[in-house]
Amino acid sequence: MSILVTGGAGYIGSHTCVEMLNAGYEIVIVDNFYNSCPESLNRIKELTGKDFKFYECDIRDREGLDKIFAENNIEAVIHFAGLKAVGESCAKPLEYYENNVGGTITLCEAMRDAGCKKIVFSSSATVYGENNVSPLKETMQIGGTTNPYGTTKYMIELILRDLWASDNEWSIALLRYFNPIGAHKSGRIGENPNGIPNNLMPYITQVAVGKLACLSVFGDDYDTPDGTGVRDYIHVVDLALGHVKAVEKVLADKGVDAYNLGTGIGYSVLDIVHAFEKACGKPLNYKIVDRRPGDLATCYSDPSKALEVLGWKAERGLDEMCEDSWRWQKNNPEGY
Ligand code: NAD
Ligand code: WQD
Repeated sequence: MSILVTGGAGYIGSHTCVEMLNAGYEIVIVDNFYNSCPESLNRIKELTGKDFKFYECDIRDREGLDKIFAENNIEAVIHFAGLKAVGESCAKPLEYYENNVGGTITLCEAMRDAGCKKIVFSSSATVYGENNVSPLKETMQIGGTTNPYGTTKYMIELILRDLWASDNEWSIALLRYFNPIGAHKSGRIGENPNGIPNNLMPYITQVAVGKLACLSVFGDDYDTPDGTGVRDYIHVVDLALGHVKAVEKVLADKGVDAYNLGTGIGYSVLDIVHAFEKACGKPLNYKIVDRRPGDLATCYSDPSKALEVLGWKAERGLDEMCEDSWRWQKNNPEGY
């Protein structure tokens, strides 16, 4: 029996594959390398001393998926594959709906026809939209997303709930990630963005390593303690361990449920800058600029449901997140 991991060569996927292998699961990875590269797979093997099957395949390729299900005894799927850049999704909405929503539908059709009805899905805090007040709870109404990327996650959650309503044999975990940062302790796997990063931590690490000149802090006039945006940053290894728990849950129980994966703690942009300066031992070049359109002042989770139902809690603090992000960047200045 194996767990199929779509998008397993990517940032969160590669860390999850390491923790799944360490927990004793057999895995099969499928990825089209749109936003990742084969070297991450070598490093998963290096870190775990374990082997796995890999298929270079697009999840929109139904025949390719059917072959994977025919050749392997897949018990459940962890579904990371998707496009994730908010700004790009505004410029290319059709590509985002086609890849994220279309890809998930094709994957679920292949799963259904293969008799595999257990899935852990990468959703996002972005589904809470702009109308809810933090701490965000799973009982809050979702929607009101502000960009096509976020809307794909919202739509997929609705589709998966409808799928369960039509057939109660499904087991579905919707994992709403907050802001993943950090890297594996070894410094061998980490986040490897193409081009100029959109997200805060990879931008910071590239300034620290000298690839970028200066961090722009997007606004210091928010209604937050220091005026900069507040987010719930979570160590990617904690996030990965949350997937191991979610897999246990979908293997054990039928149903559909959403879980926040966050720490429950909000840090400001300047908190992150200063914690990172401590981790890398030097000052970071930054300047305050205008707000970035579409940004919220504050977004953090109430993570208590994941503790109660999955038995999962984030354990790693901000200093460790910054130290691990820095080790990865310093050891791999050009990425993989
Ligand atoms: P990533 O880009 O590093 O990983 C995604 C992987 O999916 C990549 O390896 C990519 O090549 C692959 N992929 C994309 N489209 C594919 C397709 N059609 N067929 C096969 N493979 C495909 O991103 P990540 O940060 O690891 O995110 C993983 C998932 O978590 C995504 O669904 C993302 O939307 C979601 N998520 C990410 C964050 C974040 O801040 N990183 C937050 C919330 C949710
Ligand atoms: C964090 C904070 C910025 C860059 C995004 C997606 C969300 C989820 C995670 C996938 C904000 C500030 C950033 C910079 C800055 N992804 N910032 N200078 O926007 O919270 O969430 O990634 O689901 O859907 O929207 O993350 O890392 O871009 O920003 O000042 O160069 O850092 O304004 O306050 P965000 P982020």
